[in-house]
Amino acid sequence: MPTSAFPFILNNSDALASDVQNLLAKDIFKSFSSSEGLLGFLLVKEKRLTVQLNINNESLSLHIDFVAGKSKHRRLYGGGKNQPLAKACGLYKHPRWTIFDATAGLARDAFVLASLGAQVTLCEQHPALYALLVDAISRARDDADIAPVINRMQCLHQNSIEYLVAIRNNNEQRPDVIYLDPMYPDRKKSAKIKKEMQVLQYLVGHADDEKSLFESALNTALHRVVVKRPKSAKRLNDKAPSYEVNSPNTRYDVYVIKC
Ligand SMILES: C[S@@+](CC[C@H](N)C(=O)[O-])C[C@H]1O[C@@H](n2cnc3c(N)ncnc32)[C@H](O)[C@@H]1O
Repeated sequence: MPTSAFPFILNNSDALASDVQNLLAKDIFKSFSSSEGLLGFLLVKEKRLTVQLNINNESLSLHIDFVAGKSKHRRLYGGGKNQPLAKACGLYKHPRWTIFDATAGLARDAFVLASLGAQVTLCEQHPALYALLVDAISRARDDADIAPVINRMQCLHQNSIEYLVAIRNNNEQRPDVIYLDPMYPDRKKSAKIKKEMQVLQYLVGHADDEKSLFESALNTALHRVVVKRPKSAKRLNDKAPSYEVNSPNTRYDVYVIKC
């Protein structure tokens, strides 16, 4: 069993989606019977796969829910195809474009795009986050309103750079749009970082491959690459975009490959 395997407390393995069971079988997780001494681990809590962190005397937990909470709010009141994310990805004019989300994370953005009708392939390299995604997708399939959205989302556990390099010469597989949302650098007011962002930062740290990911995306997308950045952040690779789409705190840099 690899020592780098992510800790997993198998308190209720029957509740695991079959894809997560497959990851367990591949030794991507290492099972423990108790959480003693563990800083971060996965477990099943209230029937949902959850990442639990015990850091700085604080207990943080994270699961993904596409049916309720923020995802529901954004789906119902997010502004439809006029919201900046959808505009940046060209959904209004090109509803049939396929989207590859190379930095899936908690899939908040991918879920918005899929709920607006896009076919989205999500790629996440961190095993715990991938497991949370698979679990949330499998639970959401039981909801009649959300199931059609979920059916437009396909989730891969892989490094996106490797995936993009592998499909680069296959026009059938190249996506129309590649979407990137790399981890932002540390913010100074760390107390203000939202709890879920604290968990993400603990799990994945900061992007160290964003430059090569961006290059691979530019070489593989058929129509455009969209990069999500904080409003005042530098451009990725100092490359000027074709244009930008703005929202109050976020900027989407759009690199048009072909109209
Ligand atoms: C800021 S989060 C993305 C948040 C996401 N847009 C959302 O709506 O929840 C960035 C994620 O990209 C993942 N990531 C970064 N580089 C990657 C790569 N080369 N391949 C796959 N996943 C990657 C990280 O593990 C992290 O989960």
